[in-house]
Amino acid sequence: MNAPIANDILSSPQAQPMFWGNAPTSRAPGRIYTDQELYQRELDTLFYKGHWCYVGLECEIPKAGDFKRTKIGERSVVMVRERGRPGQPDQIHVLENRCAHRGVAFVRERSGNARSFVCPYHQWTYKLNGDLVGLTFRQGVDAVDACGEKIKQGGMPEDFQLCDHGLTKLKVARRGGVVFASFDHEVEPFEEYLGADVLAYFDRIFHKPLKLLGINRQRIPANWKLMQENIKDPYHPGLLHTWFVTFGLWRADQNSQMIMDTHHRHAVMVSRRNEVSSNIAANVTSFRENMKLHDDRVLDVVPEAWWKLNCPVQKAEITPTVTMMTLFPSLIIQQQVNSLSTRHIQPVSEGVFDFVWTHFGFEDDAEEMTRRRLRQSNLFGPAGFVSADDGEVIEFVQQAYRANEEARTVSEMDGQEVKNTDHNVTETLIRGMYAYWRKTLSI
Ligand code: FES
Ligand SMILES: [Fe+2]
Repeated sequence: MNAPIANDILSSPQAQPMFWGNAPTSRAPGRIYTDQELYQRELDTLFYKGHWCYVGLECEIPKAGDFKRTKIGERSVVMVRERGRPGQPDQIHVLENRCAHRGVAFVRERSGNARSFVCPYHQWTYKLNGDLVGLTFRQGVDAVDACGEKIKQGGMPEDFQLCDHGLTKLKVARRGGVVFASFDHEVEPFEEYLGADVLAYFDRIFHKPLKLLGINRQRIPANWKLMQENIKDPYHPGLLHTWFVTFGLWRADQNSQMIMDTHHRHAVMVSRRNEVSSNIAANVTSFRENMKLHDDRVLDVVPEAWWKLNCPVQKAEITPTVTMMTLFPSLIIQQQVNSLSTRHIQPVSEGVFDFVWTHFGFEDDAEEMTRRRLRQSNLFGPAGFVSADDGEVIEFVQQAYRANEEARTVSEMDGQEVKNTDHNVTETLIRGMYAYWRKTLSI
């Protein structure tokens, strides 16, 4: 069970009572989605310090020199593979995409292959590990003075040391082919950051080499936390999503567990699709009795051996058909039957974030399974049969609180407590995240 660390602040006034007031954590003020100053504090405290942020999959950069540009918070970073010394494995570096000279983002492509990074502005040149190796005119320019003597003009001061001017190198954690990084070199080890319960579900998915299947990108005009809330809200899928309800992929009465780390910042929604169809959907307005698939291969679900897990929380072997993980602050990892993806939250401002979906399978998948995963991925992404609904509703939420910042949410399904549950009719994961958020930001 989780230690009840978050419950002590569920209803007590905090360090900034003016912001939250005396309301419980289950009633968030609209300003948490719209306040610019608060947003900047979130970036500094949650994205740039004390937390691990997702960067990408190792299979996105398979060869030495391959790189990918991405973001942590608003800061541009580059993930790059460097060949290891003889007999040593390759290294993966994550570097801030900000030239140490005058700040230019030297990588402009989304991905590519390089032997070194050369900044276009004044051609400072960096090794793949971020060390500065050279800069043009370091020794100045040869010239001849009025007396005909050879002289040097310009150049860097004699005490200028290349080694003092490398790129910002992030701390890197790799596990199961997934790369995380942190600007904070004091951050706790990745495994401790996730905690044993969440880590077991992470390892369940990332248990063998991955194969990249495709990437979707979308820009959602909403605060970044609303995306985390959406995937910590297991009671909306059986109501909002016509597709889930009608085809029985997620319903309120299916066997489910909500599992959090001890800080309540990460979570896993674990669930198993009902074997027998229940009549619960008939009472749900989004259920469409007459909706049929012209091509039912989209629902050609084939159980996979790795779905089985010895759940450390339930202390029993379970076989979920869906696990939705939220790794705070910036990652969602999805298994919905045979479809697998990471979803990366990249804040752009207090009211906008970019959302990047990376669909993947396993290197040893048969061609048939790859095609199945690709077909099922039509449920997800910006125009997914299911996920298009989420992008739209969280935009509506943002619009409402921008119009009235004093209005509050009510996340009280299943009470005001924060605890793991064995059903999905709950908003406990949202309360857990905000309890952690308030504690970390002293709000
Ligand atoms: S800003 Fe990069 S070399 Fe000048
Ligand atoms: Fe949803």
